[in-house]
Amino acid sequence: VDRIFSGIQPTGTPHLGNYLGAIQNWVNLQEECSSVLYSIMDMHSFTMPKEPAVLRQNILDTTAAILACGIDPKKCLLFRQSLVPEHAELAWILGCLTNVPRLLRLPQWKMKRASQNSEGTVGLLTYPVLQAADILLYKSTRVPVGEDQVLHLELAQDIAQHFNKKYGEFFPVPKAILSTTKKIKSLRDPSAKMSKSDPQKLATVTIADSPDEIVQKFRKAVTDFTSEVTYEPAARPGVSNLVSIHAAVTGLSIKEVLHQATGLDTAHYKMVVAEAVIQKFTPIRNEIKKLQEDKSHLIKVLEDGAEKAKELAAPIYQEIRRLVGFQ
Ligand code: TYM
Repeated sequence: VDRIFSGIQPTGTPHLGNYLGAIQNWVNLQEECSSVLYSIMDMHSFTMPKEPAVLRQNILDTTAAILACGIDPKKCLLFRQSLVPEHAELAWILGCLTNVPRLLRLPQWKMKRASQNSEGTVGLLTYPVLQAADILLYKSTRVPVGEDQVLHLELAQDIAQHFNKKYGEFFPVPKAILSTTKKIKSLRDPSAKMSKSDPQKLATVTIADSPDEIVQKFRKAVTDFTSEVTYEPAARPGVSNLVSIHAAVTGLSIKEVLHQATGLDTAHYKMVVAEAVIQKFTPIRNEIKKLQEDKSHLIKVLEDGAEKAKELAAPIYQEIRRLVGFQ
């Protein structure tokens, strides 16, 4: 059976990359597949230091944002990862089947380790093993993510295959689902991805930014010394990123968007894109504000989802325990 699983770290309000690379796909997939799980990955976000009160608030803000984007708890299970302890338990088993050098090679370990201000914690190193457990705990078949998660998905595939070889066919090998805008770039540095942890405030547009903030960030977007608008991702990553964003938020093709930009220079075009982004996210931003006022509703959504997720996970985890000899 087809089962979709994906997740997002609660690091505050999602940004354009999260939305266009993943969440927009999540919304479409809940319509077409009958078994869909989306999770707020609080245990993953615990790898980067955070005040407990900030983490608590971020979980609710991310949940409000996901709901405002159109995720409907009647059509999918939306839940908080740490409420289903089998994620961590399965991660332990899978961790015992994973070689350390395989994890040391992953670029996120190398990058985030530097920003942890230490040699790197065990949790940060084994982060992708927990991610594999998230997916495999439900025998998921498809995982809608942005391009930056593809290597993590390959690890999950390797772990599934390794387990199957050792204990007999059990896990389906999960496949990544990428959207057409699989990588949105930073507005300040088009060689880097847009990221929540970017210290440059102007680099990242969140889906709850005000129209003024959106205009300011796009006005300052780094392009190049050619004023014409073209789509050449390799040669002109800055302006091409704007074209991608424009196409994705309007639902138009790259060709149609370029046609609309005929005769505009990049400075004017930036304002056209800003306006399209404002149009797209104003209703979502209003809905986020509304949802944020009802904390107990958000908490209940996450708890109800976790109850149902546990029901799906329990028999699968029981079988895993039996297969490995814990039972
Ligand atoms: P996270 O929270 O960093 O991002 C959530 C989703 O947004 C995508 N994304 C992007 N897509 C395009 N352009 C960008 N600039 C951009 N930035 C982020 C991510 O690819 C992701 O799909 N490890 C995961 C969370 C996770 C998970 C899982 C995902 C934990 N367990 C199991 C899938 C399945 C993460 O940190 O996503």
